[in-house]
Amino acid sequence: MARSLSNKTLAAVEALMMTLALATTAAGQPTTTAANLTLHNLCPYPVWPLVTANAGVPSVPTDADGEPAGRLDGNGEGLATLAFPPGAWSGRVVARTGCAIEGDGGGEEIVGRCATGDAPPVTVAQVSVGGPGGRAAYSVSLVDGFNVAAVVTPHGFAEGRRCPTLGCAVDLAAECPVGARGPHGGCGGGGASSEAAWFKARCPDARTNATDVEATPQDCVAPREIKVVFCPKPDS
Ligand SMILES: *[C@@H]1O[C@H](CO)[C@@H](O)[C@H](O)[C@H]1NC(C)=O
Ligand SMILES: *[C@@H]1O[C@H](CO)[C@@H](O)[C@H](O)[C@H]1NC(C)=O
Repeated sequence: MARSLSNKTLAAVEALMMTLALATTAAGQPTTTAANLTLHNLCPYPVWPLVTANAGVPSVPTDADGEPAGRLDGNGEGLATLAFPPGAWSGRVVARTGCAIEGDGGGEEIVGRCATGDAPPVTVAQVSVGGPGGRAAYSVSLVDGFNVAAVVTPHGFAEGRRCPTLGCAVDLAAECPVGARGPHGGCGGGGASSEAAWFKARCPDARTNATDVEATPQDCVAPREIKVVFCPKPDS
C-alpha cells in the first residue's frame, strides 16, 4: 500500500515537472521571438495598405527604416516589412486602391480619399500573434465584401505546426454579379446571404460571416513572419 502510494506520488511529481518544463518552453518562446508583418503587392496597380491595431494593443506604424508602409507599387515591387510589437498583438490589414495624394502643407504627402478600401466593399485580413504559448491566428474576411484578392502566409514556424496559406486568391471583383458591384470597384459588402454563399463557393479558405471558418484548419504557433500578399497568383 505504502509502496503503490509512493509510486503514484512519484508519477504525479514527474508529470508535474514535465508540465512545468513544457510551460516554460511555451512561455519562453514568444518573448524571444519577435515576428514581422510583411506586406507584398503583386497587383498590377499600387495599393496603400492600412494596418489597424485592435483596441488596447500598440500600433504597428513603421517599417525597418521607421517609415509608414505608405504606397506599395504593383507587380511585386511594393514590399514592406513591419515589426510586430513584443507580446500579444492583434489587428487588421486592408489594401486601399486609387488613393488621392494630398500635401499636408509641410511638404509631406498624405493619403487622401481612396476609390476602394476606406469603406465596404473591402477585403479584411485579420491577424493575431503572441497569444498563449506563442499562438498565431489569421483569416481573410469577406464579411464586408471584397476589393482586393489577399492571402495570409506564415513563414518560419516549427515543423509539424499547421500554418497554412488562407484567404482568397480569386479576383471576385472581376466576376462580380452586376447588382453586387461596388460604386468604385469591388464586390458585395451589403451582407446578403446569397453574396456570402457566392463568395464561399469561390473562396472556401476565407470567412463570409461571423461564425464561418476556413475549409483548411490552422493550428499555428510562433511564426517568425506573417506575410499578407495582395493579388497572389491564384495557384500559389
Ligand atoms: C456562415 O457561412 C457558412 C459557410 O458558407 C454557412 O454554412 C453558415 O450557414 C453561415 N452562417 C450564417 C449564420 O449565415
Ligand atoms: C524582421 O525583419 C528585420 C528587418 O528585415 C530582420 O532584421 C529581422 O531578423 C526579422 N525578424 C524575424 C523574427 O525574422
